[in-house]
Parts: sequence; structure tokens; C-alpha cells
Amino acid sequence: MEYLRSLEADEWLFRADVLVDKAHVVMLCEQGILSRQDAVTILNGLQEIEKGGIALIKLEEYEDLHTAIEATLIKLVGEAGGRMHTARSRNDEVATCIRLALRDELLKVLNALNELRRALLKLATAHTTTIMPGFTHLQHAQPTTLAHHLLAHFDALSRDFERLLDAYRRVNLCPLGAAAFAGTGFKVSRERVCELLGFDDVLENSMDAVSTRDFLLETLSAFAILMTDLSRLAEELILWSTPEFRFVRLSDKYTSFSSIMPQKQNPDFAELVRARCGTVLGCMMAAFAICKALPYSYNRDLQEATPHLLRAVRTTLPSISVMRGMLESAEVNVEELQRKAAWGFTVATELADVIVRKTGMPFRTAHKIVGELSKKLGGEAADAVPDASTVLKVLDVLSLEIWGEKLSGRGLSAEDVHRALDLEENVRMRDVRGGPSPSEVERGLEERRKMLENDEKKVKLREAKVKRGFEELKGAVGNILAS
Ligand code: ARG
Repeated sequence: MEYLRSLEADEWLFRADVLVDKAHVVMLCEQGILSRQDAVTILNGLQEIEKGGIALIKLEEYEDLHTAIEATLIKLVGEAGGRMHTARSRNDEVATCIRLALRDELLKVLNALNELRRALLKLATAHTTTIMPGFTHLQHAQPTTLAHHLLAHFDALSRDFERLLDAYRRVNLCPLGAAAFAGTGFKVSRERVCELLGFDDVLENSMDAVSTRDFLLETLSAFAILMTDLSRLAEELILWSTPEFRFVRLSDKYTSFSSIMPQKQNPDFAELVRARCGTVLGCMMAAFAICKALPYSYNRDLQEATPHLLRAVRTTLPSISVMRGMLESAEVNVEELQRKAAWGFTVATELADVIVRKTGMPFRTAHKIVGELSKKLGGEAADAVPDASTVLKVLDVLSLEIWGEKLSGRGLSAEDVHRALDLEENVRMRDVRGGPSPSEVERGLEERRKMLENDEKKVKLREAKVKRGFEELKGAVGNILAS
């Protein structure tokens, strides 16, 4: 018994199973498959089980949740309880329970994700002119703004939202009525059960309905990508809060103390988000490995995939909220971001671009000349933007040597160089669509605010649909009990 069952996942499915049982019994009664009297008896028993909760059904004495509920029902109400499983198998039952429970979790995840996206937008709104170094290879590359950087994360999370919402569409389908795999000769109404449980549609082919766990693999994949995105944000917060960076200070709420070093505050929460991405990746891999090469239709192997889904849900959901709290409470060190934006000659690209625009020199030649200039000025190690007149002088020498002409003679003025070396100007000029210029980021922010509002509505709509289903179920149960 102990080897056969999957206790934790079954506990997770308890609430869903009782609802599925109720909907099934209501439908059997409405279709005349079950007498009204038996239906009343069973529904009363199910209400009692619902009230008694998981403790009442003594899960540990049975092979699985479905068996435990049915056996408890028979104990409570007698022979009528044995009619509940008419026209049904545990195969379609469990697939329905997982989909129902997962659907609820997905709605929670989508809501949490939107709250995190909102927090990112809020922080970005406050930092459209906060200049910071942008990195490639973790080396200082070009100046950008904190808002631009945060919007990059926002956009990744928006795609996560889309992926999960799309997964929801394929999760919220009803397998009931497929029975073991071959459907049933009883004149059931699959549509009615689907309606009572708030599903969007029936999962049609009865063999597919009990065999597939693709909805679970898809959700796990979307979780894995989401957690990967969170891990990258977490990693940046970890780096940014070190003395080497000093870009942010994480709130005490999201750090822990060292047991030996009295001065320390460690970013444990961010580190755990980073690590738990690994946990979710593992869950995804485990579920794939369990499902691959399984012959159709149901095999007990499928039971083994459910706990991995549950673990992934229970890891992903709080990770999203933790990231939100961490961002909302972090202090940004604007001066340090600005100061370090100048480190490593980050304006070099703009300088080469200006030379190209003003003198007609090929970009590759300008790249070479500015590269040589950078070496002379200390290059990557430079900790301040160099002075414009010095730069122009050195450029002229280099250009004469490499290109055969002085740049000042070809229309490059001290003013041009001065502008190219200005950090704010660097950012302001990059107003290409999606670029860091404050005006472009403002436009992007406005669009994303609307997008987020729309996405929040999409979740509400789905919640309302589920709620309507359950109200319908409650009404139908009430009708039968009243008769
Ligand atoms: N606990 C099982 C699961 O999660 C329920 C289905 C059992 N079906 C069967 N034919 N043994 O998959």
C-alpha cells in the first residue's frame, strides 16, 4: 500500500475530487441513470466527507484518494454509495481532478505574476532617468537606464504570462465520461459535467482524455521558463547588493544574518529563488522522463508525474511573491548607478558612431580608432568619462595614422565629441523603438500599463467562469437535495 500510493498529491486533490464526485452524481441523476433517492443519499454523504475533510477518509488505509473517498462514502451511507462510480473510472476521474486543482493553482500563479509585473512597472516608472551601466559579458558596455533594464525583465515575465495563460486553455478541459478509456454505454452527459465544474470544454477523444499528461508537461515547461527568468533577476539582485556593485540595498526582510560574522546580511531569499529554479527544472525533467514512451492508454506510471507538478507549483508560486516583495522593498542607489555608468569608457560606441555620422568614415575604421583611443585612456579600467578636447586631439593623431586624415578636418567638432561623451546624451539619443531613451521608455511604460490591465482582466474573466460553474453545481446539488 505504501509503495502504491502518492499521499501528498492525493491530499492536494481532495477538494477537487469531492467536487468532481458531486458533479458526476448530479449528472447521473439528471440523466436518469441514478435514482433521485440514491443521488440524495450520496450527495449527503459527500457533504459529510467535505466537512470532515481529509482526516475523515483515512487516506493512509487505502490505495489512493479515489478509493478512500468511495469506501468512506459506502461506510457512511451504505449500498447507495456503491453506485457513485457508475459510468466512471479512476482514470478519467484522476485526470479531471488534476486539471481542476491545477487550474486553480494556475489562476493564483497568473495573479501573482501580474502583481510582480506591476511592481516592476512601478519601480521602472521611478527610474526612467536613472543612468546605469549596461552589461554584456558582465563587463561595462554602454550606458542605459534602470527603467530600461527593468522593462527587459518585465517583457520576459509578460511572455511567461502568455505561456501560462495559453497552457490554462489546454488545462481547463474535462476528461470525465472517458471512463477507463473507451467511454461508457451509459447515456451520460459529458457537457453537463463540464459545465458544472467550470471547464471550458470536453476533452473529446476518450482514449486521449485518460492517456495524456501533456497539459502537465506544458505547465511544467512554462513554470521552468518562468523560474529561469526569475533566477536571472534574482542573480542580478544578489550581484547588485554586493560592495563591488552597491546598486541596491535589499530590505532586512529579505536578508538573513550570518551566525558568525556580525556585520553580514546575506541575500538568502534571492539565492533561494535562484536555487529553486533548479528544483522546478528537475520537476519538469522528472515528469517528462515518466511520460516518455508510455503506451496508450492509462498506466500507473502517470500517477508518479503528479507529485512533481505539485512540487513545482508549490515552489513557483511563493518564488513569484518573494521576488515582488524583494523589489518593492529594495533601495536603489541612484548615485552609484550614475557614477559607475561612466566606468570602462562606456560611451565609446557613441563616439565611433558620431565619427561615422560626421566624417563618413567606415564604421570598422572608426571602431579601430576609438579602440586605440580607449587603450591610451585606460580603456576598460577608466573610471571617468575622458575630457573632450584631449579626446579630439588623440583622435586626430590616430586618424592621421590609420585613415590618412584628421577628423577635425573632416567635420568632427569639439562639440560633437563633447556630446558623444555625455552619458545622458548617449541614453537620450537611443530613442529607437525599444531603446533606453527616457521618452521611448515612457511610451513603453504606458503601453505596458495598458497591457497589464488587460492581462489582469483576462485572469478575472477566467475566475468568474470557474465561479459560475461552481454556483451552477451548488444550485443543482441544492435542487436534488430539496426534492
Ligand atoms: N491514483 C491513480 C493516479 O493518480 C488513480 C488512477 C488509478 N487507476 C488505475 N487504473 N489504477 O493515477
